[in-house]
Amino acid sequence: MQEKIQKLKVGMLADLKVALSEQTIKEVEVKYFGRQGLFNEIMKTLKDLSDEEKRTVGKLANETKKELESASQKRYQELEHEKLGSIADDEWIDVTVPGKKPTVGHRHLLSKFIDDVEALFAKMGFVLGEGPEVEKEFYNFDQLNIPEDHPARDMHDTFWIKNLEKYVLRTHTSPVQIHHMEKTEPPVRVISLGKTFRKDSDATHSPMFHQLEGLMVDENISMANLKSVMTHFFQQIFEDPTIKTRFRISYFPFVEPGMEVDCTCPICHGSGKLPDNVPCRLCKQCGWLEIAGAGMVHPQVLENVGYDSEKYTGFAFGMGLERMVMIKYRINHMRLFFENDLRFINQF
Ligand code: PHE
Repeated sequence: MQEKIQKLKVGMLADLKVALSEQTIKEVEVKYFGRQGLFNEIMKTLKDLSDEEKRTVGKLANETKKELESASQKRYQELEHEKLGSIADDEWIDVTVPGKKPTVGHRHLLSKFIDDVEALFAKMGFVLGEGPEVEKEFYNFDQLNIPEDHPARDMHDTFWIKNLEKYVLRTHTSPVQIHHMEKTEPPVRVISLGKTFRKDSDATHSPMFHQLEGLMVDENISMANLKSVMTHFFQQIFEDPTIKTRFRISYFPFVEPGMEVDCTCPICHGSGKLPDNVPCRLCKQCGWLEIAGAGMVHPQVLENVGYDSEKYTGFAFGMGLERMVMIKYRINHMRLFFENDLRFINQF
């Protein structure tokens, strides 16, 4: 019987050694000391022994039981230690690793350009005018001397607002001229910068684009004023003091005479050639870039807002902002402005 107890001890110690979870330790305890366990099994035969033997074997059995109980407590502790050790391995933090820099964005190239344009005109005494992007037909066309059925409406590929009679997405910033004049008495110096919309889309056109509009009305305003403001603006914005402007006759119903404004190419400085006789592709070697529409405000437009067209004259101009930015930074596709690809945006 002593031998059996010894064997039980060896067996249980071996089982504890390979127990890798609290659950298995418990199972081992049940296997040996449970009610139906191996220990009790042995104990059942105790009654067959002599008193003398009972005493020695009983003593041994008690000691062994105590020993094994503390062995299994020890195993629980070992497991706990191992667990803590692996947490330290898995979850350690290297406090010397440099921190991650949060990425800081910046303003979009177009927004920055718009601010520059506004600041430049502010220096010349122009204020910033405002008007809605969803505009009444009346302001977008009628008040600008473009009555219904006038062929000039066809020049604008208009987005009409469905179910909202007589509203359009403004096709140009010129209606801001009207809004501003309605609220102001001459002298007027106003610009407008904002979104405009046309059903148009290719490498140099987008259904949404930005325009700059300018208007100056006072006594004795002439084409000379228009030319000087335009020339100064182009020289400043393209950072090239050699820029010249030229006017070609054109037609817009709200100005008379109307014209297209060209400036000398800021890339080749009007020569049509780059260093080493390389042909300038931007201006197609002609040295000039068509850049704006302009003219002297039509007397009818002045009368429409209640100005005395005998007393006051004025000039107006309008141009696409994306086109200017494309020229200045040699960007070859309009879509790049609006795709929000960081590889593009971060270049500026
Ligand atoms: N509004 C015109 C356009 O979008 C441009 C323009 C503005 C022309 C002012 C003359 C005067 O085409």
